Amino acid sequence: MLRGERVKLCPIKREYIEFFLKWFNDPEITQYLVQYRPMTRMMEEEWMENLKNRKDNIHLSIVIPHDDGSEKLIGNCGLHNIDWKNRVAEAGIVIGEKEYQSKGFGTEAMELLLDYGFKTVNLNRIELYTYAFNVRALKSYKKVGFIEEGRKRQFIWSNGRYHDAIMMGILAEEWSERKKK
Ligand SMILES: CC(C)(COP(=O)(O)OP(=O)(O)OC[C@H]1O[C@@H](n2cnc3c(N)ncnc32)[C@H](O)[C@@H]1OP(=O)(O)O)[C@@H](O)C(=O)NCCC(=O)NCCS
Repeated sequence: MLRGERVKLCPIKREYIEFFLKWFNDPEITQYLVQYRPMTRMMEEEWMENLKNRKDNIHLSIVIPHDDGSEKLIGNCGLHNIDWKNRVAEAGIVIGEKEYQSKGFGTEAMELLLDYGFKTVNLNRIELYTYAFNVRALKSYKKVGFIEEGRKRQFIWSNGRYHDAIMMGILAEEWSERKKK
């Protein structure tokens, strides 16, 4: 378990399916994600069943722990398509509970994820794509140290038009430099 000041990252639990169905069928959320097909319970259950076989992906849930021991699930994040030879992975994140967006929880979760990726998984590079209109995500990623590395023009069709995708990356050496400061 990875604990920050306000959030912690923990393994995904079967009971979270209800939340995933809500988040991943909400166009306000999915407009920012690769996923666009409606998500059925059967698809979610199958995805969960396959989690244990997905050795090149680390999926985590983002929860807020309360003093009374209860927890509020607010989102998911993970390291995907891990390339073990070159030590590269793609980061992904979603704060699916909309009232918890824009309150710094996603940025804190991404910091925990990067720390885990570099210090525990021993990655050398973590990268991601985000859509040019996702200003909040761009700001959040820059805040934790991602550097803009490129732009794929008209890479994504969303909300009835094409958008550019911004490629970002951060290296292990950059992360440890940041942590020294
Ligand atoms: C992207 C996401 C992870 C960011 O996490 P978050 O906790 O909501 O972000 P923060 O509250 O830390 O905000 C990050 C920055 O964006 C700014 N911001 C917040 N809401 C904003 C909005 N609606 N528009 C523009 N900027 C916004 C914040 O002020 C902050 O910048 P600052 O530090 O300069 O003030 C989260 O919003 C999310 O999951 N969104 C939906 C799914 C998604 O976009 N996933 C990423 C796909 S690549």
